[in-house]
Amino acid sequence: MPSANPAAATPDTVLVVDFGAQYAQLIARRVREARVYSEIVPSTMPVAEMLAKNPAAIILSGGPSSVYAENAPSVDRALFEAGVPVFGMCYGFQLMATTLGGTVDNTGAREYGRTQLHVSKSGSTLFEGTPDEQSVWMSHGDACSEAPDGFTVTGSTDVVPVAAFENDEKKLYGVQYHPEVMHSTHGQQVLEHFLYRGAGLTPSWTTGSVIEEQVAAIREQVGTKRAICGLSGGVDSAVAAALVQKAIGSQLTCVYVDHGLMRKGETEQVEKDFVAATGVQLKVVDAEERFLTALKGVSDPEEKRKIIGREFIRVFEQAQAEIIAEASGSDEAVEFLVQGTLYPDVVESGGGTGTANIKSHHNVGGLPEDLEFQLIEPLRKLFKDEVRMVGQELGLPDEIVQRQPFPGPGLGIRIVGEVTKERLDLLREADAIAREELTAAGLDRDIWQCPVVLLADVRSVGVQGDGRTYGHPIVLRPVSSEDAMTADWSRLPYDVLGRISTRITNEVADVNRVVLDVTSKPPGTIEWE
Ligand code: XMP
Repeated sequence: MPSANPAAATPDTVLVVDFGAQYAQLIARRVREARVYSEIVPSTMPVAEMLAKNPAAIILSGGPSSVYAENAPSVDRALFEAGVPVFGMCYGFQLMATTLGGTVDNTGAREYGRTQLHVSKSGSTLFEGTPDEQSVWMSHGDACSEAPDGFTVTGSTDVVPVAAFENDEKKLYGVQYHPEVMHSTHGQQVLEHFLYRGAGLTPSWTTGSVIEEQVAAIREQVGTKRAICGLSGGVDSAVAAALVQKAIGSQLTCVYVDHGLMRKGETEQVEKDFVAATGVQLKVVDAEERFLTALKGVSDPEEKRKIIGREFIRVFEQAQAEIIAEASGSDEAVEFLVQGTLYPDVVESGGGTGTANIKSHHNVGGLPEDLEFQLIEPLRKLFKDEVRMVGQELGLPDEIVQRQPFPGPGLGIRIVGEVTKERLDLLREADAIAREELTAAGLDRDIWQCPVVLLADVRSVGVQGDGRTYGHPIVLRPVSSEDAMTADWSRLPYDVLGRISTRITNEVADVNRVVLDVTSKPPGTIEWE
């Protein structure tokens, strides 16, 4: 079974050993911000296997355990004796200390949050050029009181006698705090000092090299066969498709299902701007009527989601079957399916080597029973911000590359009540006004996303023109977030909110009220349905 990247050259790689909690992904991103390639491996991976990857350096992440807890993850001493530079952070620091003969006390001396670090050896490998007093982010119970032999103590706090140590000869370094979080004011500098000074790496990794690598790998993988890619209008599938298009040109066909639930202008962006920027072959299926018919009379949000999902698969597979039928029997059989899987999806689903084969769903006639696709997942090593950079380098329009998250079921789950064409048109107008004003105010980058919701089942009383009206309220739901798991409502300037409200109530018939959602997540979800 061919891998997703058979020809990908391996750049200098820093392995980030994941000891749990959510720190490893952030560390891996920070290493890449320092333009050094990084990959995450689980702490259960045997050291021999880690070393077999020929890492240029290793970082041990923080984690929720105490080194004294039963079943606490540990690390084999061989890791520190292989001559590979190692940087331990928080839990990783304590593991390095105990494994190499230092002392970590289970004192109950806890430090959480912002703490002052006293640097005791300025000019050291890690702390060169940083202040003697600096703010760092702590989160630990146990504390190191004695560094292992051969290490120099380079920092302390009021609570912890050994909060940083270094052994230049063996290229082993550690800090008790979290340099990867923003609250550690010189954290990125310290991390870069480890990478460039400690491990001798050069900042050379770029998303440009990803494009070259992937183009070569995809060409080798696909040969003369054909590939299909479903475009959703979102960033990931657009960038994945553009990358594959660059590699195999007309051997790729994209399918875009227009379910009629997109926002104003979005379908046109895919149909015109994306095609113009990439030259991709695109099959657009206009399925608006089919979706509206299937959604008729349905108000329950979960029911709507099920119907939209089901219809989507049916329409997509029908299009797929047509493309396959056109190419069948030739050397150009359709054997590949492009997916916009990102690195966090890969890490969260337990790693994976990129060799998965998936079966197509078979609930539509026309597909051979045993049809199997091989996956092309050119973004599976990238974080979202890196995907956007790749998209930019590939020349995709900003409207696509910088697009905020938008749910698969589209406006179907932003109409509280039955979904009809009239209501969709109304919501599209209101949403377009909100987006226009937020963009004009320069607020797009401050907001994670801003659902605009139509309370179609609610009638509100208004006075417009000559008399009373019974219209519907529109809800604005601007949120700030890092990953959509939690969110806060965005404190938008009143004058921007005022402009949006005036324009929507003036310009959108049947809307006589605009309200602002001031709920964080939890308890409220981002979407209303
Ligand atoms: P919630 O509403 O659960 O949303 O706070 C979290 C993130 O997921 C998006 N979302 C969806 N995306 N299908 C999707 O593809 C869905 O059914 C769906 N529901 C919510 C939402 O926009 C937010 O970014």
